[in-house]
Amino acid sequence: MMDTAQRYRAFATREAHGHSAIYEELAGRTADDEELIALIDQLPVPKRQPNLLLAAVRFLGGPMKGYVAFRSWVITHWDQVSATMQRRRTQTNEPGRCATLLPLLASLPQPLALIEVGASAGLCLYPDHYQYRYDDRPPLGPSASPLSLTCRTAGPVPFPERLPTVAWRAGIDINPLDVRDTDDIRWLECLVWPEQRDRLDRLRNAARIAQAEPPHLVRGDLNQAVRELVSQAPRGATPVVFHSAVLVYLPSEARSAFTETMRCIPGHWITNEGPHILPTVEARLPRSAPPDQAVFALALDEQPVAFAGPHGQSLDWF
Ligand SMILES: C[S@@+](CC[C@H](N)C(=O)[O-])C[C@H]1O[C@@H](n2cnc3c(N)ncnc32)[C@H](O)[C@@H]1O
Repeated sequence: MMDTAQRYRAFATREAHGHSAIYEELAGRTADDEELIALIDQLPVPKRQPNLLLAAVRFLGGPMKGYVAFRSWVITHWDQVSATMQRRRTQTNEPGRCATLLPLLASLPQPLALIEVGASAGLCLYPDHYQYRYDDRPPLGPSASPLSLTCRTAGPVPFPERLPTVAWRAGIDINPLDVRDTDDIRWLECLVWPEQRDRLDRLRNAARIAQAEPPHLVRGDLNQAVRELVSQAPRGATPVVFHSAVLVYLPSEARSAFTETMRCIPGHWITNEGPHILPTVEARLPRSAPPDQAVFALALDEQPVAFAGPHGQSLDWF
């Protein structure tokens, strides 16, 4: 296992590099700073994440203008920073993922009962409220929507002619965030990296839509809560359980238990996760994931259909 300094260095070079110059600098220099690493090491291992520290500092109004000011502020405000890191989680909610989920959702018998596990604030539960722009095709969806999602495609994508009809929507999260709570929204904003203005705009616009009709979110572990929630779906609607960037947080026994459950409950199961997360999906991939690019494997009932950009920015259909 990597120690904390190695974790921060790896975050700087492998994750932040090319995406956030300020996060690359702050995480990279933290890795070499014994005093800061010693403070971070007082936290439980899962709470030492670079993303969590950086979001917590921004949430508390700390400076993001260079390492010297950052380190001195973190040391002076360590009690607040560590309390925020203990209380909060990295649970970025990315509504852009609806652009890659949409062709599958639209292909199922309508109307749908959507059940998202690991829903965060539930912003992916509104695919029928967003507008979509696939390549240079005509836009699909309500022209008055405050959120327009763009997605680059390759391969024979089954572009939908109309949006799915959603009869019911609900979600589960171990720590649901509330779109009506200004601190929860501000936390989600701080989880978006500083330079990613388009992601911030997407988040804010999706939150406006969700605030008008807040989602029904159940607090709990997905393995404990999914059966009961699916059983509440209205008759006549197709239950669709879906998730993106969630199973990676589960130990492998919990992933296996969830897979077994999903094979037994009615309806469909859409997974949008790293290509190595679900063994059956990985084994059925027609080609390897691109080595130079982060992608999710999008699958319907364990049958992979595409590689998807992790934020919904691209869709490469098999
Ligand atoms: C990276 S976020 C993704 C949120 C959302 N799926 C999206 O695509 O925007 C992962 C979410 O999964 C939730 N989560 C992690 N483990 C969970 C579990 N065992 N049961 C329910 N939710 C869980 C986290 O709290 C977090 O909100």
